[in-house]
Amino acid sequence: MSETESIQPAAPTMDMLVSLCKRRGFIFPSSEIYGGLASAWDYGPMGVELKKRIQEFWWRQMTQLNSNIVGLDAAIMMHPRVWEASGHVENFTDPLIDCKKCKQRFRADQIPEENLKSHTCPECGGELTDARKFNLMFTTHMGPVEDAGGLIYLRPETAQGIYVNFKNVLQTGRVKVPFGIAQVGKAFRNEITTKNFIFRTCEFEQMEMQFFVHPSEDMKWFEYWKERRFQYYLDLGVRKSKLRFHQHGPDELAHYAKLAFDIQYEFPFGWKELEGIHNRTDYDLKRHTEFSGKDLTYLDEVSHERYIPYIIETSAGLTRTVLVILSDAYDEDVVEGEKRVVLRFHPRLAPITVGIFPLVKKDGLAEMARKLDDELCEDFRTFYDESGAIGRRYRRQDEVGTPFCVTLDYQTKEDQTVTIRFRDSMKQERVKMAEISGTLKKAIRDYRRVGE
Ligand code: GAP
Repeated sequence: MSETESIQPAAPTMDMLVSLCKRRGFIFPSSEIYGGLASAWDYGPMGVELKKRIQEFWWRQMTQLNSNIVGLDAAIMMHPRVWEASGHVENFTDPLIDCKKCKQRFRADQIPEENLKSHTCPECGGELTDARKFNLMFTTHMGPVEDAGGLIYLRPETAQGIYVNFKNVLQTGRVKVPFGIAQVGKAFRNEITTKNFIFRTCEFEQMEMQFFVHPSEDMKWFEYWKERRFQYYLDLGVRKSKLRFHQHGPDELAHYAKLAFDIQYEFPFGWKELEGIHNRTDYDLKRHTEFSGKDLTYLDEVSHERYIPYIIETSAGLTRTVLVILSDAYDEDVVEGEKRVVLRFHPRLAPITVGIFPLVKKDGLAEMARKLDDELCEDFRTFYDESGAIGRRYRRQDEVGTPFCVTLDYQTKEDQTVTIRFRDSMKQERVKMAEISGTLKKAIRDYRRVGE
């Protein structure tokens, strides 16, 4: 195989991803030195950069590129009445079944049919209880006394923080229907999560945008956002063949939704939801009007019509997108008879954009490389590395998905040129040091994944 030959991307298993993430500092088990905490994960130096890049990309797409969308950052802890109004206290439940013998708890819809019929545990054969509703919201207490009066919830979605601030934003944000409010933040759900890494966790992050529209235009905006959100993942560099829509059937619709589509990704364990686009109608604002007694109507200054807007929601998982980007980027090929593991991140998302290497430490090359690093780090996330053979250094950067490496050698001292090595093609190009920044910016702008 030639060095530049494109190949079928390797399909990673979850074990391969978990192992790479641990080895290269993307994601660690939470409180690992104490044996870990089931389904909780910590983002290491590479993981936090990747997560931030995804978040920044989303934020830019939503707020900077749409003049009619503004941002918000609401508190995680909210007045408990919010969750009564939203319907979560009553409806946000999973049917759970316990094993009387081994005490394991299962979601009823995830137990094999034969075990449900025979009432036997799929793990130990013990007797199962009947299914009972279990609310997914975490509760805690605010204030010095642990009584019912201080009971509060950790938010299970960021959306409600937006709805309760609808009037505040309207009065201060110089916005007119149709307009949107975007928010990124933590959400918490007490879910049964036994496998699949960071796919489903009890603590996770969402990127949600609530778009307020006239009721007569709900379907027009629903279609608009459905297409925009699909395109967003293509812009992130996700392969089109791995993305699809899934429409919710009547038994899948959340209690607030009139119509819902998921964008699904083909994970190593199958097609699963990545983002939901929901037509929430006027359900939320009506309920908050009813429960708070406050007027949450909108007055159209031109037509003088007063109404409660409908809401089109785009709700993406940030931590789940991290898993999508990792799964999609993972690839293996063979270089000089050796397996190369490479993460083919879009350069906009890569935790490190440029590796900077002096060929050797001596003869002033290290000093020159450090100086270049000081300059480039103003515009790019850089990583300086002077240890080991140059091929090893490239390989280490391939494994964390660094799209470009710049090497300074003896020729650099003579003519002020360096080589840029491209991760995907492994081609090397000699450029003037003064032109590196422009060359890299162009390569980022023009990036296309091999074979796409
Ligand atoms: N506000 C609407 C809402 O929360 P959802 O379909 O329940 O809708 C939206 O969640 C997105 O949040 C999902 O598509 C998924 O990406 C992410 N998500 C939901 N629960 C999650 C969990 N337990 N762990 C990780 N991500 C989760």
